[in-house]
Amino acid sequence: MSREKAKIAVLVSGGGTNLQALIDAQKNGVIKSGEISLVISNNPDAYALKRAEIASIDTAVVNKKDFTCATEFENKLIEILKQNRTDFIVLAGFMCILSENFTKTFSDRIINVHPSLIPSFCGKGFYGLRVHEAALEYGVKVTGATVHFVNEIPDGGKIIMQKAVEIEEGDTPEVLQRRVMEQAEWKILPLAVEKVCAQLLAK
Ligand code: GAR
Repeated sequence: MSREKAKIAVLVSGGGTNLQALIDAQKNGVIKSGEISLVISNNPDAYALKRAEIASIDTAVVNKKDFTCATEFENKLIEILKQNRTDFIVLAGFMCILSENFTKTFSDRIINVHPSLIPSFCGKGFYGLRVHEAALEYGVKVTGATVHFVNEIPDGGKIIMQKAVEIEEGDTPEVLQRRVMEQAEWKILPLAVEKVCAQLLAK
């Protein structure tokens, strides 16, 4: 790639703590091969948008409700991402499943962070707190987070990094979610972003 840094777009839906981890990693030099140039939210009320504004990063809102179908919604996302000349897309708590048309448009250039050790507690219906509820219900003693490439199979793309986290006696889904974020997601997501951006630049 001819650029000095890969242009990164981060797609979000909620609180944006993973986005914050990326912003911080960029500031402290952990991410040096890429630069977050755009944050897109499907939710106009996402606090992640505020985090982007504070960090002086451009934002866009693409709300599914404003479109008659999923294809139109995705086409708008694609249009914005292409206008921005995005090299690399990070799904950081983005709660929409993307179609093959979208994932093929940015083949090997989309990654996602998922709050479990894939292939456990993943796929359609497993997102956010539900993942931790399912892990506690099943009674596993170890969970964690996974960063993986995104293809047409929900949570089915090639794994880039994983980190295990212990489940403790008396954990609630909320307590476990926070521990998985602190001990795994916020650490491996920036490392994976740097790794893939460096690989893209070398191409
Ligand atoms: C994170 O735990 C992320 O792994 C999860 O949602 C949370 C978003 O938090 N994503 C998924 O479940 C996707 N399948 P954040 O908005 O504070 O980063």
